[in-house]
Amino acid sequence: MNPLYQSTRIGRHTLRNRLVMAPMTRSRADDATGVPSPLAEQYYAQRARAGLIVTEGTFPSPMGKGYVRTPGIHSAAQIEAWKRITAAVHAKGGLIFLQLMHTGRISHPSLLPDHATPVAPSAIAAQGKVFTATGPQDFVVPRALETEEIPGIVEEYRLATRHALEAGFDGVELHAASGYLPEQFLSSGTNQRTDRYGGSLANRARFVLEVLSAMAEEAGSDRVGIKIAPEMGFNSVSDAAPQETYQYLVQRIGELKLAYLYVAKTNSPFDYRALLRPLFNGPLLHGGGLDKDSAQTLVAEGSADAAVFGSLYLANPDLPQRFLKDAPLNTPDRDTFYSAGPLGYIDYPALESAQ
Ligand SMILES: Cc1cc2nc3c(=O)[nH]c(=O)nc-3n(C[C@H](O)[C@H](O)[C@H](O)COP(=O)(O)O)c2cc1C
Repeated sequence: MNPLYQSTRIGRHTLRNRLVMAPMTRSRADDATGVPSPLAEQYYAQRARAGLIVTEGTFPSPMGKGYVRTPGIHSAAQIEAWKRITAAVHAKGGLIFLQLMHTGRISHPSLLPDHATPVAPSAIAAQGKVFTATGPQDFVVPRALETEEIPGIVEEYRLATRHALEAGFDGVELHAASGYLPEQFLSSGTNQRTDRYGGSLANRARFVLEVLSAMAEEAGSDRVGIKIAPEMGFNSVSDAAPQETYQYLVQRIGELKLAYLYVAKTNSPFDYRALLRPLFNGPLLHGGGLDKDSAQTLVAEGSADAAVFGSLYLANPDLPQRFLKDAPLNTPDRDTFYSAGPLGYIDYPALESAQ
């Protein structure tokens, strides 16, 4: 039997296949309220045949927002909207985790309450542009968090986890990649603190570990996953010794007995999946540039327990069935990745309707 269609355990849950839908920001939420679009019910339900869906990055608190029309999980209206989404996925027998994403310095005052300055471990601006309602703008110099403020941010993740469970999610994933707040703490290029959250490797990893512990206290560690993407370089994050950093982090994460570790492939020539796999005694998810054959090899060899698909899942709501039948795939349309409305969101045809 094709290994991609064998069930597997991820923490508390049994996945019916090894095909995971990657977390993907789609920018269809209401910008003023952070309430997910009603279209999201259909979008996620169409993709419910995945072994597991991980949602688009969702801000745990208003200060965690970094992109226009992204959703949150801090208000009652947001929780109600997510309830309808998880119900739609569960009605089709699917499993869905919420990705918690606090972007830290990768934000802009125009996206934040009272035009606040984005927060970060240190007052170092990211290079590049942020996409705001009025077009691309330079990143601002973020405000370095006071030591006493950090437990409050950890609490925001805890509360967000509680809200996610209330909304019916099967678990939560910490977004610790792509140069957002957790990775800003972890990486020496963005963290120049001299308190207990900076300097040594143990100190730089402290924020991520505290957040994971808080999430696990709420949900149970068997409903908490983490995404990392070492050396992705995205959002101008850099680390002086990334192999050491991630080895240390993954060893420490191992103590938490999480549902899974998701190592996303980056452009780095170094094989982090191979480095980290033996250090983590639990389910490993891997993705980035996979196709059917490479995913099959990955799982058959035991290099990962499940294969994560981003853009191909976005464009093929019935990806598992298409792979099974060796059917042709729809091509992802980049122009509608982050556009508003139904186009390129809920109108990718399934196989039956295409034939
Ligand atoms: C439109 C789009 C939005 C994305 N948004 C997120 C996100 O919110 N959180 C995240 O962790 N990764 C995000 N990613 C990265 C994907 O999760 C995945 O790692 C990446 O697409 C590589 O996999 P692929 O080659 O199968 O597309 C996004 C990718 C795409 C294409």
